[in-house]
Amino acid sequence: MKVLVIGSGGREHALVWKLAQSPRVTTVYCAPGNGGTAAQGVNVDIPVSDLAGLADFAAREGVGLTVVGPEVPMVEGIVDLFRTRGLRIFGPVAAAARLEGSKVFAKQAMTRAGVPTAAYEVFDDADAALAWLATQPAEKPWVVKADGLAAGKGVLMCDNRAEAADAVTRIMTAREFGAAGDRVLIEERLDGYEVSLLAICAGGVIIPLAPAQDYKRIGEGDTGPNTGGMGNYSPVPDFSPALIDFTVHQVIAPTLAALDAPFTGTLFVGLMVTAAGPQVLEFNVRFGDPETQVVLPRLENDLLDLLEAAVDGTLAAQTARWSSRKAVTVVCAAGGYPDAYRKGDVIHGLAEAAALSDVIVFHAGTKLDGDRIVTNGGRVLNVTALGDTFAQAIDRAYEAVSLISWDGMTYRRDIAARVREG
Ligand code: AMP
Ligand code: GLY
Repeated sequence: MKVLVIGSGGREHALVWKLAQSPRVTTVYCAPGNGGTAAQGVNVDIPVSDLAGLADFAAREGVGLTVVGPEVPMVEGIVDLFRTRGLRIFGPVAAAARLEGSKVFAKQAMTRAGVPTAAYEVFDDADAALAWLATQPAEKPWVVKADGLAAGKGVLMCDNRAEAADAVTRIMTAREFGAAGDRVLIEERLDGYEVSLLAICAGGVIIPLAPAQDYKRIGEGDTGPNTGGMGNYSPVPDFSPALIDFTVHQVIAPTLAALDAPFTGTLFVGLMVTAAGPQVLEFNVRFGDPETQVVLPRLENDLLDLLEAAVDGTLAAQTARWSSRKAVTVVCAAGGYPDAYRKGDVIHGLAEAAALSDVIVFHAGTKLDGDRIVTNGGRVLNVTALGDTFAQAIDRAYEAVSLISWDGMTYRRDIAARVREG
C-alpha cells in the first residue's frame, strides 16, 4: 500500500519512519516533508494548506491511507474533503477538530462532559477582561490563552494580576497572535506535573498510547516562554496504569461523547496531575510533537494496522504493545526560537550522530539543499535515543547531540533529568 503523511516536522518524520517499517507499505509519501523524510520516503511538493491538491495527489497516485500530522488542515476540513472524495484518511472531521481549533469550544465540551479542568473565564473584549481582572487578588497567578490556533505559543503564564493584564493586552490589543486572539481565556494556574496522553480513537473505542512528558518552556529549569516543545520522554513513571485508566474513562470517553460529530483520529490530552488528581490543560486532535518521537519508537505494533483499523471501524480488535525500554528526545533549535530565528545554516554531524546505536535523528525544520542538509525552521532536529534505563537513553541522546552542530544551535540540557534515576 502507498501511504501519504501530511506535514513537515519531526512528528511527520517519526510517522514516516514508523510506517516505512510496515511490511504492507510500499511507498511513504510525505507532503511537503523535510530533509529527513526525503531519506525514508518520497517528498511531495504540495503545501499542507492546499487541501484539494493533496486530495488530487492521493487520488492520482492510488494512496491507500493518508495520515495528517498538523492540526490546521484538520480544522480546515481536510478529512471531510478526502471522505467526500472516497479517499481513506486518518484524522477527525472539522467539527470534531474544533476541540483543538478553539480553546473555548474545548472548555465548553469539558464542562458538558464533567471533565476536571481549571476554572476559567472567557472574554471577547479587552476592556471587559481587564475590568474582571481588576476584581481579582493582585498576587494570584493566571494563565491567559488566545482562543484560536497559535502554534503552541498563544498561552501566556502570568505570576500575578499585572502580568495577566499585560497578557490580555498583548493578545487582544497588540494582537500578537492575530485572529487567534479575538477571544481570550483567563484560567486559574494549576500546580503539579504534566503528562501528554495520546489515544487512537474511533467509533467509541479508545486505545491509549504510552504516556509522555513534554518540556514546553524554552529555558532550562522550565523558564522563559512556551514553545512547541523542547524535549520529551516516555514512559512517565509517576503516571500509573490507574491514571491512564482514569484519563480514558473519566476524560476521553465523556469528552468524545459530548461532541456532535464522531471522533476518529488521535486525541492528545494535555494533563496537569495536581494534588487533587489529573486536570485537563488542553486537547489536541493529532499526534504530539515531539511526543510522537518518543512514543512511536517504543510501539511494537505495525502502526498501519492501528490506523487502518480506526478508519475501517475495527479498532476494538486491536491492542497496543509496548517495549519496556525508555525513550528520550532532545529538540535542537535555531538560535532565537521561539522568537525570530535564522534559516539556511548548514547542519554538520548528522551521519555521525545517526550512526550511534539506539539513536534516531528525526528531522523537524530541515531541508535538502543540493547534497547538504540546512536548517529550515525553529525546531530543527529531534535527537531521540532508547535505553534500558532513562540514564542510558539520556546519555545516548546527549552524546548524539554533541556530534551535531550549526551556527546558533541551542537545546535544553535538562531533558528527562527528573527521571534519570527512575
Ligand atoms: P495549552 O496549549 O493550553 O496546553 O498550554 C500550554 C502549556 O501552558 C501547558 O502545557 C502548560 O505547561 C501551561 N498551562 C496551560 N494551562 C495551564 C494552567 N491552567 N495551569 C498551569 N499551566 C498551564
Ligand atoms: N508537544 C505538544 C504538542 O504537540 O502540542
